[in-house]
Amino acid sequence: MTDKIPYLDLPAQIRSVRKEIDAALARTLDNCTFCLGPDVAQFEKDFAKFCDAKHCVAFNSGTSALHVAMRLLNVGPGDEVITTPFTFIATSWAISYTGAKPVFVDIDDASMNLDPKLLEKAITPRTKVILPVHLYGHPFDLDPVLAICKKHKLPLVEDACQSHGAKYKGKTVGTFGEISCFSFYPGKNLGACGEGGALVTNSAAFDKRARGLREHGSTVRYYHDEIGYNYRMEGFQGAVLGVKLKHLEKWTNERRRVAHRYHELLGGTPLQLPREAGYAESAWHLYVVRHPRRDELKAHLEANGVGCAVHYPISLHLQKAYADLGHKLGDFPVAEKAARECLSLPIYPELTDAQIRRVVEAIKNFFK
Ligand SMILES: Cc1ncc(COP(=O)(O)O)c(C=O)c1O
Repeated sequence: MTDKIPYLDLPAQIRSVRKEIDAALARTLDNCTFCLGPDVAQFEKDFAKFCDAKHCVAFNSGTSALHVAMRLLNVGPGDEVITTPFTFIATSWAISYTGAKPVFVDIDDASMNLDPKLLEKAITPRTKVILPVHLYGHPFDLDPVLAICKKHKLPLVEDACQSHGAKYKGKTVGTFGEISCFSFYPGKNLGACGEGGALVTNSAAFDKRARGLREHGSTVRYYHDEIGYNYRMEGFQGAVLGVKLKHLEKWTNERRRVAHRYHELLGGTPLQLPREAGYAESAWHLYVVRHPRRDELKAHLEANGVGCAVHYPISLHLQKAYADLGHKLGDFPVAEKAARECLSLPIYPELTDAQIRRVVEAIKNFFK
């Protein structure tokens, strides 16, 4: 039997940089710089440069970075933050943690990102922030969203947790809004060997306050200016991310190769394929195809040794945790349809052409 094709092959990635990571981790161990420290500080500089931003503050997760972004914009009880119902739930957790209410706006069927055409209708006097997501590595359409933010004097936070290095009209995402947040969860395009996240901004004031909030609301030890958190990045993660960041551009190009190959080979099948909008250069975090018989196709692929996954099976407005928002089936039909149809195929820099062809062959056999 031929080898299985895993949905994600992290061991292959680690093997490719193992020596560099070993050396970086050994250095951190020798220096005992476990919480923040010089490796994290260096990574912050490097990642800010990568995003073409003035500041980067490292966190222990993307969720923490998003939560602090909401705190920086003084979001709290009684406020509303507009976001997409079709994302990983951490996006809306950040809103809920502050006591504010997530207000969902349906997505656009082609990009599966928040539909800018529906945004303005959702704005009320309580709206405090607009928080769309660059889903699957593909930027949302920033210009119309920025125009609405400007008109209503509302700050924009980009959830870029899946979109390291994605470009909108030639410019890297991360500085279009007041704040952007990234995740370095291991399976992300830039992944730590554990949890990690970052907040990116051009504001020196946000940078300073974010550093305080991630360390118990304190900039001078044992003096606490406001209620804060233990959201520090570990030294080991800073060391690993510093190594991996050097490879990110090359890895993104490899993801692009995989995406283009799928596109070429899957054309003519009944699948709805992901497309880059004219304004976008996707980071191709995920390659998500769509079909009404998604569950059968997933079972077929798995039975044929092809790993795949569903991102995401239930949109946020229908999650049990948000029952108190009072939503029902049909409130956001485009997101609900996407949740029924989406299927993520294997995509990673190490995926070979032979593996891609096997994935495609298994898909074509399903439709025969
Ligand atoms: C869109 C989105 N937002 C937020 C997060 C949260 O990041 P983390 O898992 O690092 O807390 C993730 C990643 O899982 C994500 O994909």
